[in-house]
Amino acid sequence: MEKIRTFVSNAKDGGLYPPMFVTEGLSSEPRVVVEGREVISFASANYLGLANDARVKKAVIDGIERYGLHPCGSRCVSGSLDVHRELEQRTARHKGLDDALLFPTGMMANMGAIPAIVDMPLRGVSALLRRGPDRRENVVFSDELNHASIIDGYSLSRAQIVTYRHNDMDDLAEKMEQYRDYRGLIVTDGVFSMDGDIARLPEIVALARRHETMVMVDDAHASGVLGEQGQGTLEHFGMHDGVDVNMGTYSKAFGISGGFVAGEQSLIDYLRVAARTYMFSGATFGSLALGAMTALEIARSEPARRHRLWALSKRLRDGLAAQGLDVLGKGETPIVPVLVGEEETAQCISHDLFEAGFFAPCIMYPAVQKRRSRIRFSVTSLHSERMVDGLVDAMSYICKRRGVLLAA
Ligand SMILES: Cc1ncc(COP(=O)(O)O)c(C=O)c1O
Repeated sequence: MEKIRTFVSNAKDGGLYPPMFVTEGLSSEPRVVVEGREVISFASANYLGLANDARVKKAVIDGIERYGLHPCGSRCVSGSLDVHRELEQRTARHKGLDDALLFPTGMMANMGAIPAIVDMPLRGVSALLRRGPDRRENVVFSDELNHASIIDGYSLSRAQIVTYRHNDMDDLAEKMEQYRDYRGLIVTDGVFSMDGDIARLPEIVALARRHETMVMVDDAHASGVLGEQGQGTLEHFGMHDGVDVNMGTYSKAFGISGGFVAGEQSLIDYLRVAARTYMFSGATFGSLALGAMTALEIARSEPARRHRLWALSKRLRDGLAAQGLDVLGKGETPIVPVLVGEEETAQCISHDLFEAGFFAPCIMYPAVQKRRSRIRFSVTSLHSERMVDGLVDAMSYICKRRGVLLAA
C-alpha cells in the first residue's frame, strides 16, 4: 500500500492527477450541470445526439421489459438472445460484411479479438486450449497513437510488437520489410481518439497486400460518423475491402454501450470460440442490444445528423485555427484538439473555459506524451452554430491571456 500512497500523492502534487467532475444527468445535452453549474459540454462522444433520442430510450425500456436486466451468463453457456443475433446481422449488413460478433464493450472487443487473431493456433482447434504458436512467428504493427484498448489487446498476445510512427507510411513499410518472414497484423485506429485525424487506410492496405499481412481497424470514433452512410473509415475513403477485422463500438455515435467486430464469416466463427472476453464474460444486455439496433437504424437513415456534425466540426476547427491556435487533426472528424503543451497551462485553460460556461477536458500525460497536453473538443450534432462560435471566442480570449496563441 505504501507504494500506492506515494504514487497517488506524487501524481496529485505534480498536477498530473486528473480532476473528477460530477455531472447531474445528461438528458439536456449539450447543456449539462457539472459541479452544480450549467455549462455547454464539448466533452461527449454522443456525436449524433442518439444517447438521448426518445426512440432509442424507448427501445431500451422495451428491452428491459422483454429481456429483464442481464442475461446472467456468457452466450457460450446461457445461449444467445434473439436480439444479439439480430444486432450482429444488422451491424454486419451496415458494414457490408458477412457477420459480426458482439462484445460487452469496445475495450473488450479489442482485448478479445486481437490476441485471438494474433495467437491463432496453426495446428487446429484443440491447440486453442493450449499455448499458441511460438512468439517469433507473429508480429503486430501498431500506430504509436493507437487507443489503450488496442495496446492492452496486443499485450495479451505472445507476438512481437512493432510500433510505427503516427501515420508514417515510410516507417511502417521499413518495419514491415524487417519482419517480412513473420505472420503479421497491422492494427490502427480509424479516427485517432486524441488527435482527431484519420488513418491513412488506402496506403496501409496497399502495404498489407504487398506483404500478405492482415489489417485491423478500430472504428470506435468513425462508426456512424464517417462516410455518407456512416459506415466508417473504409467508406470515407471509398474503399470496399482490404480490411480483415472491422472493430467498432456503440458507445460513441450510437449512444449505447457495446463493442463489435465485423468481418468475413470464418473470422467471426473463429472469434466465437477464441475471443476470451466474449467467451468468459456475461453477454451484452438484451435491452442495450435492442437500443443499439434502433440507434443503428436512425444513424443510417438520418444522414442529416452526420452532415450537420461535419459542418459544425469544420466550423469549430476553422474558427480556432483562424485565431492562431494549434488545431490538431486537420480533417473532417468531430474530435478537435487544441495543442497547448505544458500540463499546468492546459489545466488552467480547461478551468477558465469552465468559468466561461464550457466543459471540455484537458488531456495530459499519460493519455498523451508529456508536454503535448491539449484541450480536446468533441462536437455533436446537438450543438448550435452559436455555441460553436461562443466557444471559439472564449478560447481565443483565454488563450491570449495565457499566452498560447501561435504567432500570426
Ligand atoms: C479508439 C477507441 N477504441 C476503443 C474504445 C473502447 O470503447 P468502449 O467505450 O466501448 O469500451 C474507445 C473508447 O474510448 C476508443 O476511443
